[in-house]
Amino acid sequence: MKMYDKSKVIPGLFIFASIVAFPFLYNQVNPSSEPVLAKAEGKCVQEKDFMKKEHMKILNQWREGVVREGKREDIYINGIRYEKSLQKTCLKCHKRESFCDKCHSYAEVKPYCWNCHSGETK
Ligand code: HEC
Ligand code: HEC
Ligand code: HEC
Repeated sequence: MKMYDKSKVIPGLFIFASIVAFPFLYNQVNPSSEPVLAKAEGKCVQEKDFMKKEHMKILNQWREGVVREGKREDIYINGIRYEKSLQKTCLKCHKRESFCDKCHSYAEVKPYCWNCHSGETK
């Protein structure tokens, strides 16, 4: 029976393992890889994929409503009632630093909202 040549098999396995592990190792050392965001409880005001792209529009609509039009009454989205508030609604579930800021610094956006809105969880 033919024996396997250990001097070839072991380096071969090592190379194979390195190729498999590369994406994981790369993600751990490469600072530009997607950030890990703090998990939130419950359900967002809309689906995650929608929120990812459209959250700034929702905030803008809420803001316009309250600040420009004086429409302070709560809003219903999919039958659930929300106060149109950055602090009291969004930041009840999400933390500014470990969620909003983390993704924004990765995406290199700097919303100026925090100049006035403290961003502290209420
Ligand atoms: C009742 C809790 C709750 C409220 C209120 C809430 N969210 Fe969420 N949000 C979540 C959950 C849960 C997810 C899904 C996270 C996941 O699956 O990892 C999420 C997802 C998101 C995402 C997508 C994150 C990603 O990984 O792509 C964004 C952006 C977001 N929310 C912004 C907001 C904003 C802005 C508001 C206020 C208008 C808000 N959320 C209100 C719980 C909430
Ligand atoms: C998964 C990534 C991600 C998360 C989490 C996230 N954002 Fe954003 N946000 C973005 C990106 C990307 C943009 C820029 C989008 C564009 O320019 O079209 C943005 C833009 C915004 C803007 C508009 C800023 C401007 O100058 O136009 C606001 C306001 C905003 N985000 C608020 C929030 C708040 C509040 C939270 C936390 C509750 C949050 N975002 C969480 C990715 C995220
Ligand atoms: C110059 C200061 C300032 C800046 C900058 C600012 N806001 Fe506001 N915002 C206010 C004030 C003041 C109110 C009114 C609070 C009230 O009357 O309840 C308000 C109200 C709001 C409301 C409704 C009420 C609430 O409790 O949240 C939303 C939503 C909001 N702002 C979102 C934003 C977003 C999103 C940004 C950034 C794109 C932003 N604001 C930037 C000062 C500011």
